[in-house]
Amino acid sequence: MALNEFIAELDGVLQEATAAFAAAADNDALEEARVAFLGAKKGRLRAAQKGMGGVDADDRPQAGQRLNDVKRAIETAFEEAERRIATGAADAAASGPAFDRTLPGSEYRVGSLHPITQTIEELKDIMGRLGFTVADGPEIEDERHNFEALNIPREHPARDPLDNFYLSTAEKTADGLDLLMRSQTSTVQIRVMEHTPPPVRIISLGRVYRPDEADRTHYPMFHQMEGLMVDEGVTMADLKSVLRMFASSYLGSDVRVRFRPSFFPFTEPSVEADFEWNGEWIEFGGAGMVDPNVFTAVGYDPESVTGFAFGLGVERLCMRRHNLADIRDLFTNDVRFLRQF
Ligand code: DAH
Repeated sequence: MALNEFIAELDGVLQEATAAFAAAADNDALEEARVAFLGAKKGRLRAAQKGMGGVDADDRPQAGQRLNDVKRAIETAFEEAERRIATGAADAAASGPAFDRTLPGSEYRVGSLHPITQTIEELKDIMGRLGFTVADGPEIEDERHNFEALNIPREHPARDPLDNFYLSTAEKTADGLDLLMRSQTSTVQIRVMEHTPPPVRIISLGRVYRPDEADRTHYPMFHQMEGLMVDEGVTMADLKSVLRMFASSYLGSDVRVRFRPSFFPFTEPSVEADFEWNGEWIEFGGAGMVDPNVFTAVGYDPESVTGFAFGLGVERLCMRRHNLADIRDLFTNDVRFLRQF
């Protein structure tokens, strides 16, 4: 066979192979074309190669060179087609199925603040408008701030280990005071007055801990809002108006407030504060005029200032507002319940 005949044959194969690879729409079609042209046994190139035996011996090196070039060109065309199909598949996957604007959208689930957190934010807001700033104190307290400075002496039943979460006796303050999970936010009154001279007008919101059995109205951890106002000439009338304005803002317009005589070691006189809510009198917490012993304990002069204090249960406020029957629902973290707020 003449050299030019052999070359014409090779070029024909190259042209057809390139066209076949370019036409292949997917991997299966491309593979079929690959076997047809590059297949080691029955491929077209292999068949054409056999013609080399008929080429004059002198022209064989040139024929072999041409064969190699054509083979490489066919392989390149194959790889190109392979890449084209792969990118096409990736593009298709990225753009996904055709967009159907008539399908309902998928729900985007957004979290929300816990009802107690929402209540706390609202209480801060209301009290802020009445001029009270927010103060904080630690949840692990020493017996001075939780009891002693609040006029609760060592032998007082409120300090009973059975009624408090004391830390292990190995853990004490540097000056040897016992530590406990605070049982009331009244501790913050002491912490604030210790480092701020009067006048003082603060609230403090946070967790308190008591070893109570959990039931519909009790939980071993709950929240209180403490309030403290100290200045020259503060009276019980101020206490009552602040609580009335607070109750009206939180529960609705013009809520009546009732004081019943009570006792707390850190106030004198002391009262239970009831709010009238839907025709019912409901107890929301304790209050009173700051006991002179408390002022003395923090270095205030009880002859020159007076003050009132109150402590309200945050859960109670939250439960009234949302008509909740069981305090435990607030803390079992069931999203079916929490999602409603
Ligand atoms: N600390 C009291 C309690 O946990 C509540 C309380 C009563 C706070 C009277 C006060 C107050 O500030 O004046 O039961």
